[in-house]
Amino acid sequence: MISFKNHRTRALGALILIVAYLFLPGSSGAAIPDPARFFLVSVGCGDPDNITLKAQKTIEKSQLVFCSEKMKALWPDMLKGKECLPRPTVAIHKYFVALKTGFSVPGTVIKKEKQVQVKKALETFIQTVTQAVKSGKTVCLLDHGDPCIYGPYIWTMEMLKDLDPKVIPGVSSLNAANAALGKGLTFGNASHSAILTNAADLKKDYPGADTLDRMAATRSSMVIFTMFTDFEKLVGELKARYPEQTPMALVVKAGYDAQERVIQGTLADIVSRVKAAGKIPFEHLIYLGDFMETVE
Ligand SMILES: C[S@@+](CC[C@H](N)C(=O)[O-])C[C@H]1O[C@@H](n2cnc3c(N)ncnc32)[C@H](O)[C@@H]1O
Repeated sequence: MISFKNHRTRALGALILIVAYLFLPGSSGAAIPDPARFFLVSVGCGDPDNITLKAQKTIEKSQLVFCSEKMKALWPDMLKGKECLPRPTVAIHKYFVALKTGFSVPGTVIKKEKQVQVKKALETFIQTVTQAVKSGKTVCLLDHGDPCIYGPYIWTMEMLKDLDPKVIPGVSSLNAANAALGKGLTFGNASHSAILTNAADLKKDYPGADTLDRMAATRSSMVIFTMFTDFEKLVGELKARYPEQTPMALVVKAGYDAQERVIQGTLADIVSRVKAAGKIPFEHLIYLGDFMETVE
């Protein structure tokens, strides 16, 4: 039989164990203080409600947020009271490889004045973030879609690596456009794979291994992130490599309920269908592949 004293000792022991479980670092469920650091946060793609809860929580705990004016207008409550700064120039992304080598690679065609500007912008950003994190602030930079797919700010992971930076993932235009099509991107007839590309092979003297010839040889579904791709040139090149009846589609403004549209056709007629659809905004993805075969 357990004496009262034993019972009390056991109860106390149990209490100590529960407290240790809850508060000691390393135990699951423990309240580990989150260190101040830098986050590259996706706000998703399209309508503002495509943001994830995790992104919202990360922004809420941040004191300094790099974002656009449009973002401030879309999430006023979430950004209220935060110190907001404009995001660093996209020229850093554009010239990142040249920047890392100090613009020393022969053939780098960037005016000296521009080099100085971009270098300064990068240094100022690194300095601002580093000082903020070192003073105990959590800092985030807001990006659209998946920051790891053709994202213009992924360089921050490399340049701020000493601060243990993290990406908070989000809905990519790829996810939103897949949903708009309502088809299994990876369930083609000829292949069960998908290629994400920016069709860089269309550029003169592109040195990459991902040539259209090689990609086409796999017969995989293809998703083309456009970034101002010459559409007619692209279709011409694809026609030389795929059967003309291969389904092709454009998903425009994916993730925006009121503006999203799908222009569907085949390699043979997609150019005339796109022309008939009027002006196509920057935000569109191009799809090619027999996985869309049953779509009317
Ligand atoms: C610089 S990339 C960024 C992609 C982004 N990281 C993502 O995961 O969606 C920009 C390209 O993404 C595509 N894109 C971005 N937003 C889109 C949208 N709402 N609908 C369709 N395509 C979109 C377009 O092809 C555009 O040229």
